[in-house]
Amino acid sequence: MFLKYKIIKSKLKTTILQSEIIHFKSIDSTNKYLLSKHNHPNGTVVLADFQTAGRGRRQRIWQSPEAESLLFSIFLNENIQTVPLYSFTFLTAVSVYEGLLPFIPQNHLALKWPNDVLINGKKVCGILVETKTSSNRTNSIVIGIGINVNQDSAFFQRELKQATSLFCSTGCKFSRMEVLSSVLISIDKNLMELQQRVYTDVLEKWKNYCPYLGEKIKVDDDKNIYEGIFKDISQNGGLILETGGKEKIFHAADISIVKENGNL
Ligand code: BTN
Repeated sequence: MFLKYKIIKSKLKTTILQSEIIHFKSIDSTNKYLLSKHNHPNGTVVLADFQTAGRGRRQRIWQSPEAESLLFSIFLNENIQTVPLYSFTFLTAVSVYEGLLPFIPQNHLALKWPNDVLINGKKVCGILVETKTSSNRTNSIVIGIGINVNQDSAFFQRELKQATSLFCSTGCKFSRMEVLSSVLISIDKNLMELQQRVYTDVLEKWKNYCPYLGEKIKVDDDKNIYEGIFKDISQNGGLILETGGKEKIFHAADISIVKENGNL
């Protein structure tokens, strides 16, 4: 089936990301599109106004009303073998955080392991990194990003109580294209830096933007819920929890922050 799209010729001065953006009014999933058999150049960006089967982490769905949020994915197939895969997740979270700084005061923004961006403790952005492999080798990476921009509180009240949008957090409507440009510039800059410097720099930035290190948290790995102190991030991007006098490392889980007066 041929899917209809338009090309947005952005004026972004990017080095790795393509300046032409593939724009769908509706598609099943921008991640799925880039993972399927198209020959995309490195740095291809695909944007959709609506996704009929948006994918979230841990087999969840990602939904948003038409043209109220940013739903986009980035394709990378160059210089991806030299750095650990998990660094792309941290890099993207750091980039979205930095890309939102022109719109949101820094003290309202936070990163939450593994890849959420929060405003005032509520999720504003989710990131899903997927890979294409052959013979046990990663050939390409697709970074999917969903940023809640102009959805109103009614949308979140229905089922997404721990989520927010830029509009809900500030009372202002935003131009999706302005937010997209800012985030893409930030991703491009951080991708360049990842090639030129050591990837642990990304992790250090991530830790600086995560206020929950050292805090009491709950970790839900789908089988058990553990409570303990968020000690650190491991060498391969896992969360180190100090619990019951031992350290336990998680690679896929959901966390919530335990406050004096309840959970985050
Ligand atoms: C999460 O569960 O937090 C990750 C959500 C990622 C959603 C984005 S929206 C654009 C891209 N296409 C998808 O199908 N998913 C990602």
